[in-house]
Order: sequence, then C-alpha cells, then structure tokens
Amino acid sequence: PDTDVRPALRVLLAAPRGFCAGVRRAIDAVRDALALHGAPVFVRRAIVHNLAVVRALEAEGARFVEEIDEVPEGGVVILSAHGVAPAVRTEARARGLIVYDAVCPLVAKIHREVERHHASGRRVLLIGHEGHPEIVGTLGHLPEGAAVLVRSAEDVASLALDDEDEIAYAIQSTFSVEEAAAVVTALEARFERLAGPQGSDICYATTNRQAAVREIAGLADAVIVAGEDFSSNARRLAEVASHAGCPSVQLVAEAAAIDWTALRAGSTIGLTAAASTPESSVAGILDALRSRYDVEIAQVATTTETTSFRRVAVPC
Ligand code: F3S
Repeated sequence: PDTDVRPALRVLLAAPRGFCAGVRRAIDAVRDALALHGAPVFVRRAIVHNLAVVRALEAEGARFVEEIDEVPEGGVVILSAHGVAPAVRTEARARGLIVYDAVCPLVAKIHREVERHHASGRRVLLIGHEGHPEIVGTLGHLPEGAAVLVRSAEDVASLALDDEDEIAYAIQSTFSVEEAAAVVTALEARFERLAGPQGSDICYATTNRQAAVREIAGLADAVIVAGEDFSSNARRLAEVASHAGCPSVQLVAEAAAIDWTALRAGSTIGLTAAASTPESSVAGILDALRSRYDVEIAQVATTTETTSFRRVAVPC
C-alpha cells in the first residue's frame, strides 16, 4: 500500500487578510529611520501587535521600550501605529529625541473627531476596550475624565448622563462591527442629541477582515486565525468566526501552536490573518497543514483593497 497518501483537507483562504495599510506604514517607518539614522532606533511599545514583526525589526536594529524615559537623550524614537496621547510626544521632544509618529492616519482621524466634539461642548463616549493602547492614546487627547468608555450595549443604560445631554461617540478602529452597531443602536434609543462619525470609525481593514472571516466561517468546519492573542483585531476575527456559527475556532500566532485535534481529515477549514500578522505566518501555517494533509486551497475574496498611506517622512 502507498504509505504516503495523506488525508485530504480543503482550505478556504480569506481575502483580504493580513497587513493593512497602517501596519505597513508603521513597519516602513522603523525601517526608514534605521536606514536614515542607523541602529539603534527605539520604538515605544510594540509597533504593531505581532511578535514576529517585533523580532524581525529587533534583528534589524530596532530596540523596543515601554516608556520614553528609557530612550537615551538625542535618540531616535518611533511611536506605534496605535497612536499616543499628545503628552507622550511632548515628553519625547522635551528629552531632545527625534520622534517619528507612526500613528495610523485612521486612528489620528478619531483623535481629531473626539477633540472636535469636546471643543463643541459635547460629552464624548468612546466605544472600545479598556486599556488598549489606541483607547489610552485617544483618551489622552481630552482632559482627564472628559470622555467615558463604553464597552458594550449593556453599558449604555447605566451611563451616569442625562438623556437630554449633548452626546458624541467615537469607536475604536479595531472594534467588532456587529458589537459597535449594537452599542450605537442603544445610544440612539437613549440619547436624542447624539452625534457620531460619518460612516464608521471602524477602519476599512477591520471591516473587510471581519466580513471575509464571516464568509469563510459559514462554509468551514474549523477556522484558524493567524494572530496574537493580545491583538485586538485578531481576537475580533476569532469572535466573528465563532458568532458566525463555526464550531471550532483557534487563534494561533504560529504553526507550532495549531491544535491538531480540532482538525479532521476530509474537512474544510478557513484560514485568515489579523491586520498585524505577516503573510509569512500564513505561509508557515499552510506548510504545516501540507505536512499532514493533501491540501487543496481555494481563495475566498469578499473585496479587494487599494488603500495605502504616505510614508512617515519627517519627525513630528
Ligand atoms: Fe489603521 Fe485599521 Fe490598520 S486603524 S493600523 S488601517 S487595522
């Protein structure tokens, strides 16, 4: 008998998946600064929420720090794609650092929105996950206590606000599209004088990746999301796949973490990657699948993306 016959596995590869324009721009900012200034270039916090990306940049001469005071005076520092409070930039400049701000333009847009609402006297509600760097950075654009964090539709009833108040809301760029819609519906039901973003603050990349994983989750017996469990957009993709009814969903940073007991021969699995996950992680997972199965790949494209951002050319 032929002992090399491997069981079949059909893989539905979501498109779009992986790097978004903001993540590409942030990684380019580190590489551009290394090329211009030489190593070391300091990066405050994970430039994007992916350890493979962080390790690759470390190997090229980037040094990751938690806070600005760890950067030697006169050093070069890159601020992450998630955005920071203005106080962080001020501190960096006060230390005489050369600062490149790799904040995603779509996060910077949310900063401008909340500032505008606050300046016009509205009470700002920020829909997002407590403690996430984007939320910390966005809250830092307003005086302390000026914005209220809303995590779910259930939070809305207990907000200590008058129903007649002038309210404005903004949403974390990587929040769940479905959950945000539920929160906004609850806000609209309670507050008559409610202002919000035109369209949505949830970025195109989050929206498209969630739509793509929802599509494959409905067709697959199991879904693998390539991404870190500390990445907000990765976790949302896993949640969306579960909510879409897929019985088995795993979030894995690399092929070594795959739970093989969850995959069955002859089944169909869906594969996607978070906006901060390099395509090399997807390739590694596909190689691991091929080592055990006779893999047939079908790409399921729900949309194509053309968004790109200009590079971070000058220090801020
Ligand atoms: Fe920007 Fe959205 Fe990516 S906010 S960094 S384009 S996930």
